[in-house]
Amino acid sequence: GAEITVPKGAAVPQDTVFTWKGRMWLNDKQQPADKILALVQLYKEDPRENKIDLGVGVYKDASGQTPIMQSIKKAEHLLWETQETKSYVGLAGTPEFSEAMINLVLGKNFDQSLTASAATPGGTGAVRQAFELGKMANPNLRVFVSDPTWPNHLSILKYLGIPVEPYRYFDTMTRSVDFPAMMADLADANEGDIILLHGCCHNPTGANLKAPDWDAVIELLLKSGATPMIDIAYQGFGDGLEEDAAGVRKLVSSVPETIIAASCSKNFGIYRERTGLLTVVSHNKDARNLNQSTLAFLNRQNFSFPPDHGARLVTMVLLDEELKRNWMGELEAVRQSMLSLRTQLAAELENLSGSNRFGFLADHRGMFSRLGASSEQVGALREKHAVYMVDDSRLNIAGLNSNTVPVLAKAIVECGI
Ligand code: LMR
Repeated sequence: GAEITVPKGAAVPQDTVFTWKGRMWLNDKQQPADKILALVQLYKEDPRENKIDLGVGVYKDASGQTPIMQSIKKAEHLLWETQETKSYVGLAGTPEFSEAMINLVLGKNFDQSLTASAATPGGTGAVRQAFELGKMANPNLRVFVSDPTWPNHLSILKYLGIPVEPYRYFDTMTRSVDFPAMMADLADANEGDIILLHGCCHNPTGANLKAPDWDAVIELLLKSGATPMIDIAYQGFGDGLEEDAAGVRKLVSSVPETIIAASCSKNFGIYRERTGLLTVVSHNKDARNLNQSTLAFLNRQNFSFPPDHGARLVTMVLLDEELKRNWMGELEAVRQSMLSLRTQLAAELENLSGSNRFGFLADHRGMFSRLGASSEQVGALREKHAVYMVDDSRLNIAGLNSNTVPVLAKAIVECGI
């Protein structure tokens, strides 16, 4: 007879929430809905014409559209004309994409001889693979995350069975970073742990580390031996492309090993193409080679080849001088429009409330700010004023325009926030 070549008895790696009842899909537990995505649906179903969507982190222009960037359109056109095959690329994507993205995040002079990288389906794919990599390296991995952080960080960690160690981050009174508290909590991190940091434009708070804070974090990392992981999904949305990466660059050049999950969804406006990069900066060539093969292995296990279309467009834009210049101009316009909405909203609220307690809105950077409202107040904003923001009072600044800023300001004050 035929020889059996499939090895028997591989263990199921973790508990699943499904209960086998003789029918494949008869599960007894509904998965919790993602709060941000549930809000998208709620907004869609609201028939009120004056509704304002400040929920999911998608850039919108003054007319409420999420436009395709011209530079991306041009690259797409060029690709359509010139691409001759859709056959597979490498498991880690193309080296050109990795190289161009590392140049973008870590600077064009960064020595890439010790970097291992893999293209991933979006920034979320990079985050997921990074956690898996961490768990492969250390089965007792703990991940330190800011309190609060992007809810999907927590959801993925829970799904993977990786313990979370929250560190204090946001001062709810000043709406800025409570840096002493953050450092106090991070003092518990040891070698083998991952400390997750947002590269810029912290999601959900909008409050960010300052240059001296990054220095102190670097010192802590060197002392503890913990591995930093940077999630950078909004480069170019805060203070500028270079400025937003300054902390990350300093960190990478100071510590032996860094994991970076980068997203192209927002700064290239290619959300649905699922384009991201996971990079590990290693301390020596052997570690680098091991990391590279492990990243390719992880891709193979989870989805095989990463999506190529978005990565190719990004590569084309970054490698062509003119396209790159156009893209940088478009990105800068996006950044400026969010900045001016921030200052408008802060000024409007100062007028209406007679206090400057909303000044933080102008100081925050990126797409989001956490308002500091209770979930009842967020509910009132939604029910009485048709203003949609995430339950934790995170608002997407880009969901506003100069006409809706005064409407929101009035609603905020009327809800007693
Ligand atoms: C967000 O935080 O709203 C974005 O990152 C979109 C998402 O996937 O949650």
